[in-house]
Amino acid sequence: MHRSALGAGALSDEWAATRLPAHTTRDDFVFLIAREGGEVAGFGYGYTGSSGQWWTDHVERSLTSAQRAEWIEPPHFEIVELHVRPSHQRRGIGSALLAQLLTRQPHDRALLSTQTGSRKARSFYAKNGWNELASVDFGPGYPPYIVLGKRV
Ligand SMILES: CC(C)(COP(=O)(O)OP(=O)(O)OC[C@H]1O[C@@H](n2cnc3c(N)ncnc32)[C@H](O)[C@@H]1OP(=O)(O)O)[C@@H](O)C(=O)NCCC(=O)NCCS
Repeated sequence: MHRSALGAGALSDEWAATRLPAHTTRDDFVFLIAREGGEVAGFGYGYTGSSGQWWTDHVERSLTSAQRAEWIEPPHFEIVELHVRPSHQRRGIGSALLAQLLTRQPHDRALLSTQTGSRKARSFYAKNGWNELASVDFGPGYPPYIVLGKRV
């Protein structure tokens, strides 16, 4: 699938050339693809997150010390990307990818972030049992995000 099929601006050239290859080397990396009728309908991936990584360090600063003790300090899985082709959305594919990622990782808690303004994503994660923990500021050039957690 060409990345543009996922919707404008979903994933950058920089992601494909640099970030994804670096992410494949992280602990417990899992990447799943959903296919339907021979074509890619969606994909998602994640790995074990830890302090010292860019995403985790930003999230850590946004949480209370009690939240850090619950969500960051214990080993946890981070869902990094999850996308379903627009023509295939709202048929359970995103939920299936998310559930399957969580069965293929070793921890009892997981974290992710999504754009505060995405009602679709926030509704999707609420429906899948994720809790909104805090607002996160990833710095200049980034829209507002929220971090969510789920006990597996
Ligand atoms: C979020 C996303 C992964 C959901 O995938 P999906 O396959 O459509 O999700 P499912 O069919 O498993 O779940 C559907 C639920 O998601 C939410 N949802 C999906 N589309 C929605 C829409 N257009 N408006 C509001 N809620 C929506 C609803 O809660 C819906 O449940 P309902 O149909 O009972 O109302 C997909 O919309 C997507 O790829 N969006 C763009 C990228 C993105 O935002 N990724 C997540 C952030 S990292």
